[in-house]
Amino acid sequence: MLPLHVHKSDWRSYDQIVHHYDRVWAARFQPAAQAMAGMMPAGCQPRALLDIGTGTGIIPAIFSETFKTLQNIAGCDISLGMLQRAKARLANLRAVAADAAALPFKSDTFDLVTAGFVLSHLREYRRALNDVHRVLKGAGLIAASNWTSTVDDYSQAWSGCLAEAISKPEAERALNEVAPLENYFSQEGNLEAAFTESGFSVIHAGAVDLRFELTVEQFVEDRELNSGGRLGRHLLGNDAWMKFREEAINTLRSRFGETIHYSRRAGVVIGQKSAASV
Ligand SMILES: C[S@@+](CC[C@H](N)C(=O)[O-])C[C@H]1O[C@@H](n2cnc3c(N)ncnc32)[C@H](O)[C@@H]1O
Repeated sequence: MLPLHVHKSDWRSYDQIVHHYDRVWAARFQPAAQAMAGMMPAGCQPRALLDIGTGTGIIPAIFSETFKTLQNIAGCDISLGMLQRAKARLANLRAVAADAAALPFKSDTFDLVTAGFVLSHLREYRRALNDVHRVLKGAGLIAASNWTSTVDDYSQAWSGCLAEAISKPEAERALNEVAPLENYFSQEGNLEAAFTESGFSVIHAGAVDLRFELTVEQFVEDRELNSGGRLGRHLLGNDAWMKFREEAINTLRSRFGETIHYSRRAGVVIGQKSAASV
């Protein structure tokens, strides 16, 4: 097993939220993965798939349902907890503990590589994309997604509460340490540019709009899984975090009522390795 640079007990690790991820977030990651599968080119018949930053294996599960040609499905992640969940979701998944920027696979192995909401986590995203290029067969496909930038009253109100509890610079540090490229890849055109720089031609760029009706409590549950929430809990300790959480719920409730109409847009880009660059 490779040495993993984010340790299990580190607040930044997805191991911290593995028991809540699917319950709270599958409702947003599943439709995004379905939309990604739907954007693959007509006639796409992959046999070998690698999903980098596979998390709980949502993408491999959806792709294996959609593309019956798949025989070899691998998913890598640096969180062992997430990999365990992924394996439980899809028994035939080859779950590999590996950094996406140092893929332990032979060149020319996969027909398709997917990367759902993960490039934003990789300071070394160029290295990761170059490695994806290496492990893809000629004319192989890459599909990646990222949230587009949104400013909404609900998220701003949550950020305000968090900043009061742990300070604004700390809240900013949280995102910078977990997903340093989140803001970069949320800007239109930057995923495409990253693909092009690494030798892929962009064959499709689309978006999927997701709308949720959440109770205030569900919204806070959603937010506290994020980097800021993870750092907040780490800095304050569990008891103080629970107190903060209750106060944040009351603040949001008094401003917005009981129901949050929350929407997010995910950008999805599909690229292709040119057969000539094999
Ligand atoms: C937001 S989750 C997305 C999970 C999954 N792709 C999905 O769509 O549900 C990001 C995942 O990337 C993983 N990750 C972060 N940095 C990574 C790295 N350097 N190499 C591999 N995986 C990484 C995290 O552990 C986490 O499971």
